[in-house]
Amino acid sequence: MEFQPPAGREAGTGLECLAGKRGFTRVPTLLHISDLHFGKPFLPDVAEAVVEQSQEIKPDVVVVSGDLTQRAKVQEYSQAAAYLERFKAPVVVTPGNHDVPFYRFGERFLLPYRNYRRYISDQLNTVTQVSQMVIVALNSSRRLTLTNGRIRRSQLDFAERAFDGSDDAQARILVTHHHLAPPPDFDGGNVMPFARRALKRFTRLSVDLILAGHMHRAYIGNSLDFFPGDLRRRGIVIAQCGTTTSRRGRGRERLKNTFNLITIDELSIRIAHHAWIAELSRFMPISEHTFPRGRRQYFDASTRSEGEPELSPVV
Ligand SMILES: [Fe+2]
Repeated sequence: MEFQPPAGREAGTGLECLAGKRGFTRVPTLLHISDLHFGKPFLPDVAEAVVEQSQEIKPDVVVVSGDLTQRAKVQEYSQAAAYLERFKAPVVVTPGNHDVPFYRFGERFLLPYRNYRRYISDQLNTVTQVSQMVIVALNSSRRLTLTNGRIRRSQLDFAERAFDGSDDAQARILVTHHHLAPPPDFDGGNVMPFARRALKRFTRLSVDLILAGHMHRAYIGNSLDFFPGDLRRRGIVIAQCGTTTSRRGRGRERLKNTFNLITIDELSIRIAHHAWIAELSRFMPISEHTFPRGRRQYFDASTRSEGEPELSPVV
């Protein structure tokens, strides 16, 4: 059966679905892509469409949550770097487990990020400020773990220092490759060790949004769904991205490709999950998620923890 796009969306960029009832207003926009996997699993046609649609969307920033390559080879990195250059927006990247050599053991142990540093970024943990967003990317890949990741205490301190200087109006966004939240069905979804420690810290740092990949399937929710933490009124929106440009999709996204288009205003975080529709040769929004933003969520004075400041009611 031929795919029929929803009425009114044929020529859209995907931002229309995020515009809200009060009409379209341009708000900070982030394109979240992940697990590009330059190398054998890479899909050039799909990748081309991502660039083209990005030119229509004109995001303020593009976030790539790891696994730029399949085997961390020079040629793969060279192609990935050339690809990222084509986005006409700042690009925030973080390494994934595939961006560390898997079989080249000498390189893996001695110079695991040699090619990443040479072609993508000399820095493994970064801070980017753009359009009312502060984006902290933490490297969760490790040379000594095969596929799983870690975030060290020193990286949590790095994030704290980075967010320290931001003002309340700026959205605080955290990027890792490995997932801090399990998939809703918990299928193959062991989160990285010490994920709860990291989430606790990020909650206290008033992080608004966490972006990650690794699972090759998207899911979008709230940290309170699976980890109440000790500040139960405040969760963090978590957006997992599937593989955007490879044939390595898993679970319900097996052989599928997805990205997330995110807008953030002072009241809300809106995420449109897009999937590749081969018949249209483009990504289309297939689900939309809106979350109240930051301090406005879960207001209820009765649940205030001891020592926690009183918040303004929802307006
Ligand atoms: Fe991956």
